[in-house]
Amino acid sequence: MKQANANEKSIEGMLDQQETLLIVDDEAAIRRVLFQKLSREGHQCEEADSAEQVLNTLATSPIALVILDIKMPGKSGIELLPEIKSGYPDTEVIMATAVTDINVAIQCLKQGADDYLCKPFNLEEVSLAVQRALEKRHLKLEIREYQQFLEDKVEEQTGEIRKLFLGAIEALVFALEAKDKYTGGHSRRVTEIALALGNELGLSAGDMEDLRWGSLLHDVGKIAIDQRVQNKPGKLTDEEYEHIMTHARIGADIVRPIVNEKIIEIIEHHHDHYDGSGLHQVIVGNDIPLGARILAVADSFDAMTSDRPYRPAMSNTKAIDEIKRCTGTQFDPDVVTALLKTKKTEMAMK
Ligand SMILES: [Fe+2]
Repeated sequence: MKQANANEKSIEGMLDQQETLLIVDDEAAIRRVLFQKLSREGHQCEEADSAEQVLNTLATSPIALVILDIKMPGKSGIELLPEIKSGYPDTEVIMATAVTDINVAIQCLKQGADDYLCKPFNLEEVSLAVQRALEKRHLKLEIREYQQFLEDKVEEQTGEIRKLFLGAIEALVFALEAKDKYTGGHSRRVTEIALALGNELGLSAGDMEDLRWGSLLHDVGKIAIDQRVQNKPGKLTDEEYEHIMTHARIGADIVRPIVNEKIIEIIEHHHDHYDGSGLHQVIVGNDIPLGARILAVADSFDAMTSDRPYRPAMSNTKAIDEIKRCTGTQFDPDVVTALLKTKKTEMAMK
């Protein structure tokens, strides 16, 4: 498991801050020599004499570079190296070893160490190795910062393109509704009702946004429906009803490439019945996405309170009675309760 990481800061922050070096050796005299040399060169230095102290320091303060002694009592530098590299990938590590341990030092390079120094130290070599390691770290952070910048840019532009597409489809829905005197403004009104229900039911901001798009676009599939069937004044035949109901699936397919799965499901299931009795229905009850259950109530309420080719608009009271009658069969009881509350509040405010 990754430890609480004091090095987890923004890349920009890491690039700006003064870099701290951690000198690790069980011999105080060696630590002192390195500390003095590197401090004199302007580096901020800390010391540790054991693996335990190294891990404590890393967990509490950001360390740019560790000069790590291989041979220490208790956990050795070789054992500690993978822990540092996995827990603190932005920390560079230079191994310090006796000349006779050169093969071990090479092994450490293979395990992720950035460099090694031989004891007894040549202090100029130490300076150079520290400088190289810090430059390498700087470069790595800069590259990552640039990658992050590019990723943010791509995400931002993808969002813009998505917004444009959704806006275009929304305009298409409104255009479709506008040419029909019976459905003008339907999607906007349904969205308003659905959001009031979502609010009453305590939906998260993300779910509200999905519900908003699902509601605005729920009837986009009607573009594929025969206008003569849609505007038929009399009762629909079974075949005509089946044809009209395909708009839910067609609408979901139209928006599939540009919206998330939740919005697609809201559109696809907005005519599902809570008890599973809807046409060609495959899911039942609370398996139907909540957004679709909300939309079903909002859509029906607006349809009932609007004029249709086959009947005049119902009053709000009559529509509410009809929805109450279908509670638990066509509609989710919780959503109906939310509708009753919102309508009661609306009426009280009038
Ligand atoms: Fe619909």
